[in-house]
Amino acid sequence: MRLVIIGCGGFIGSHLLDRLLADETVSVRGWDPQVRKITRHLDNPRLRLHRHPVHEPGRQDELRDAVRWADAVINLAAICNPAEYNTHPIEVIRAGFLDVHPLVELCAAERTWLISFSTSEVYGRTLAGYLPGNTYDDPDLYELDEDETPLIMGPVRNQRWTYACAKQMLERYIYAYHHEHGLPFTIVRPLNFFGPRMDYLPGRDGEGVPRVLACFMNALIEGRPLQLVDGGRRHRTIVSIHEAVDALLLMLARPERAQNQFFNIGNRDNEVTIAELADLMRHCYAEITGDPGYRDHPIEVIDGERFYGAGYEDCDRRMPKLDRARTLLGWTPRIGLREILLETMSSYHDQYAKSPTRP
Ligand SMILES: NC(=O)c1ccc[n+]([C@@H]2O[C@H](COP(=O)([O-])OP(=O)(O)OC[C@H]3O[C@@H](n4cnc5c(N)ncnc54)[C@H](O)[C@@H]3O)[C@@H](O)[C@H]2O)c1
Repeated sequence: MRLVIIGCGGFIGSHLLDRLLADETVSVRGWDPQVRKITRHLDNPRLRLHRHPVHEPGRQDELRDAVRWADAVINLAAICNPAEYNTHPIEVIRAGFLDVHPLVELCAAERTWLISFSTSEVYGRTLAGYLPGNTYDDPDLYELDEDETPLIMGPVRNQRWTYACAKQMLERYIYAYHHEHGLPFTIVRPLNFFGPRMDYLPGRDGEGVPRVLACFMNALIEGRPLQLVDGGRRHRTIVSIHEAVDALLLMLARPERAQNQFFNIGNRDNEVTIAELADLMRHCYAEITGDPGYRDHPIEVIDGERFYGAGYEDCDRRMPKLDRARTLLGWTPRIGLREILLETMSSYHDQYAKSPTRP
């Protein structure tokens, strides 16, 4: 199989390469300026890596050649860090839509299957979230169905929605090219993939505010309180990166089932509030370090706008329907949240807690 992967150096890309390159029949042409997470693959002759952004001016011929060569193109490129959505909205819109929309045109011209990673954030807030006093009694008002659920974004001044809107625009652009030019496509809507190599830790190998797991991990390692934004009332469902990659491999193995579909990829059984996640992480870290004191590690509540800046707003609840992935791909996630956290947190602990000094 011949694959082009845009954003192959990121969290999902690195796990995907681990699995794909283990199969000697797979060759990959990848694009990503960041390669820190994939150094072990850099000498693999079946990976041809372009260490520059996919939209780099003057280098579109090599991309066109690769798209023509490939059986499928996987697009993982984006800025997908919530702290950036309202602080660097132009870059977020560029990365999520403007920089990658020419790729859609190339895939359509070459009739190459485009598998594009979108996000569950395209659903925005749920209908239930807008009803006063709603207690989420009716699943039809909050469960996320790929083809039926409306996509409800907040006001333009709440720039938190730039990421979701850019992703939604890319989905619509891909679908339009499918409709008018026969582009074969698959849209993947991930719901919180967790695993080793997810994010940097600020002050060590990156700056800014990473996603929630890395924020909590950093606080645990540095002995600072876990900061619960707005009390951590929002819900998330969490799925293992390994099972998420399984889903993608099933798609690649069965194009006739995966093409021209939208797929939620998540785990309904692993739903937690962010406050529950913080508590579970304290208990897991006590187990990993052998220090029961971590079970009572301090937690503090912080206002969302103070933490993320003006224009912050959160999705209320994201409970994916997964019938399509189950019936078309035969995919059902099974790994429980505790197991996912123990694996992910142990890898962070090994990588960061054992180094006494900050680089
Ligand atoms: N991880 C999740 O749980 C999750 C959830 C929802 C959506 N997604 C989507 O899945 C995709 C991958 O997520 P991830 O967690 O691996 O993110 P990531 O930030 O770890 O990886 C994205 C990679 O894309 C690269 N990139 C960005 N713009 C590029 C460009 N123009 N050309 C080439 N490379 C570029 C970055 O350097 C980075 O290495 C993203 O599109 C993201 O929006 C992920």
